[in-house]
Parts: sequence; structure tokens; C-alpha cells
Amino acid sequence: MRLMVQKFVILLVGSAIVMPAGYLAAAELTPAEIIKTRQEHLKDMGASMKAIVDQVKTGKPDVSIATDAAKKIAAYSRELPKWFPKGTGDEAGIKTAAKPEIWAQPDDFQAAAEKLPPEADKLVEAAATGDAAMIGAQLQATGKACQGCHKVFRVPPQEH
Ligand code: HEC
Repeated sequence: MRLMVQKFVILLVGSAIVMPAGYLAAAELTPAEIIKTRQEHLKDMGASMKAIVDQVKTGKPDVSIATDAAKKIAAYSRELPKWFPKGTGDEAGIKTAAKPEIWAQPDDFQAAAEKLPPEADKLVEAAATGDAAMIGAQLQATGKACQGCHKVFRVPPQEH
């Protein structure tokens, strides 16, 4: 029994050293759970964008609704690169629109991901002004950062 425990500890320590950080953080979740969770977060991020669009459309945006939604996007944008550990592509056997390029060109994916937080931060600032034109302009800039990644790394919804 003691020997088994020791072996187990050695295994754990050994694997902790070899595993890349992104994988380790997600080690307790199965690939299916990771995919489902990231898709929920992404849906929520899309809903937050829409909530701000809806506010802009009223012509008199509600500062607190728009700011809360923008803050959510800003927080998610910093988490996003961690949602795609190796093994969570098509090989997981779950429906996912994540393209293999995410793992084949990790530097490009990271660069695409890093474009989002600064735009999302500016969206928080714009939302706080309550100015429909300013928020609208920054929504477009933020949307470009979303699309910049989607174009290369996401299977378009109609093909998915
Ligand atoms: C660095 C890359 C990247 C950025 C930046 C990015 N996305 Fe995505 N997004 C993806 C990938 C990859 C998927 C497919 C995920 C999957 O199916 O597993 C996706 C999927 C989605 C989905 C569909 C989720 C579902 O399964 O229903 C929505 C909605 C979405 N993104 C919204 C956004 C919004 C809004 C932004 C910007 C505020 C954004 N994304 C920024 C890569 C990105």
C-alpha cells in the first residue's frame, strides 16, 4: 500500500513537470467538459456584445448595463487563451468549431487573442460615457478583434 502511494506521488510529480501549464490548469476537466465550458463562455461573450448593441440602438444607452457587459467581455478576453488546451479539437469527438490551426499555429492564435483585451478595455471606457456614437464605434473595433480570430481559427457557423 505504502509503495503504491509513493508510486502515485512520483507519477503526479513527474507528470506535473512534463505537462505544459495550459494543460495542467485544465487537468481536472475532460476535453468534452472543457469544450462545453468554453462554448458557454463564448456564447455569453456574444450575448454581452449583443446587450451593448441593443443599448446603442436605443440611442440612450444605459451606462450600467453597457458597462457590466463590457466588463464581462474584458474579463473573458483574458481567460480565452486558456480555453483551448491541446486535445480539445476534433480529436475529442465532440462537436467543436475550433480549427486545428489553433494548435498548429499557437503563436498566431495567441497574437489574435491578445488583440481583444485592449479593445475590450476601451469598450468599458466607452460604455461609461453613455455616448451611443462612441460606444458604437468601439463595438465595431472590438468586433473586429473577434472576427480577426474567427476568420482563421473558427469553422464558420454555416459549415459547422
Ligand atoms: C483568439 C480567438 C478568438 C477570439 C479573439 C474570439 N473568439 Fe469567438 N470563438 C473562437 C473559437 C475557436 C470558437 C469555436 C469554439 C468551439 O466551438 O469549441 C469561437 C466561438 C464563438 C462563439 C460560438 C460559441 C458556441 O459554441 O455557440 C461565439 C458566440 C463567439 N465565439 C463570440 C465571440 C465574441 C463576441 C468575441 C469578441 C468579443 C470572440 N468570440 C472572440 C475564437 C475566438
